[in-house]
Amino acid sequence: MRSLRKMLLYILPVFLLAVVLLSQTLCGSGKRSDEDRSIGERFHHETSLTWLGALGDAFRGKPEEPPQYKTYPGAEIIELPEPVYRGLVLEEAIAGRRSVRNYSTNAMTSLQLSQLLFAAQGITGKTYDQYLRTAPSAGATYPFEIYVVVHNVENLPQGIYHYAVLEHGLALVRSGDFRDEITGAGLDQEMLGDADVVLVMSAIFNRTRHTYLERGFRYVYIEAGHISQNLYLEAVSLGLGSVAVGAFLDEKINELIGVDGHNEAAVYLQAVGTL
Ligand SMILES: Cc1cc2nc3c(=O)[nH]c(=O)nc-3n(C[C@H](O)[C@H](O)[C@H](O)COP(=O)(O)O)c2cc1C
Repeated sequence: MRSLRKMLLYILPVFLLAVVLLSQTLCGSGKRSDEDRSIGERFHHETSLTWLGALGDAFRGKPEEPPQYKTYPGAEIIELPEPVYRGLVLEEAIAGRRSVRNYSTNAMTSLQLSQLLFAAQGITGKTYDQYLRTAPSAGATYPFEIYVVVHNVENLPQGIYHYAVLEHGLALVRSGDFRDEITGAGLDQEMLGDADVVLVMSAIFNRTRHTYLERGFRYVYIEAGHISQNLYLEAVSLGLGSVAVGAFLDEKINELIGVDGHNEAAVYLQAVGTL
């Protein structure tokens, strides 16, 4: 009796492990072949986590890790006002959040822009040598760069600016009036030209892929949602209107902000304007 119990003690865990691995293998192989799947289904399937897949990942080559912060050497950093605004109670902002596509012609203030950028990616903490930001990020890999297409902001000439996270400032990427260009790139959604600013969330995928391989793509897209929600709520709190925009011509937006669409690509836009 005792030897039977001893045998079970050893055999049962091995048996259970075998069942788990077998089921993972069967699930992993799937019932449908790649040809039966749409590109979206394949993306979801091929970035699904399994225990076997996770084990395999340990032996796969990882892409090189790009620098955590993008800089524009030579560009002057325009300091933004310190984000100090204390606005609505959070629950009021949540209850008041709506996608707003009509704006007034009044200019946004640079303090409002500062507050929006802080909500999107501002630094709020530090662990060891790693700064932490307002929006969560898988493994604190922070794949996103924020570009601001400025149409109508007090004391800030029209143009495309890059948000310098460490300095909480802006580096000018291109100067000019890009209202028509961004509207065209956004499938003629007029609010993209009517807004005071359009924030472009652009991802350097390898920052996250370096740690999470193909699964990292999912994390990047999820993270865009976190940033966008912060922007939505901050806009409500500031009395501004905003709308997230996922429908745009990728190549055109990438060209506009000057990224290659491969190592770095625009993922999501957010128009914000005064009411
Ligand atoms: C992923 C995503 C993409 C979106 N893309 C667009 C868009 O391209 N144009 C637009 O006008 N609204 C867009 N929206 C806003 C939705 O239309 C809006 O959230 C929805 O109608 C619900 O309204 P509400 O945000 O006011 O609650 C998008 C929202 C999400 C979450």
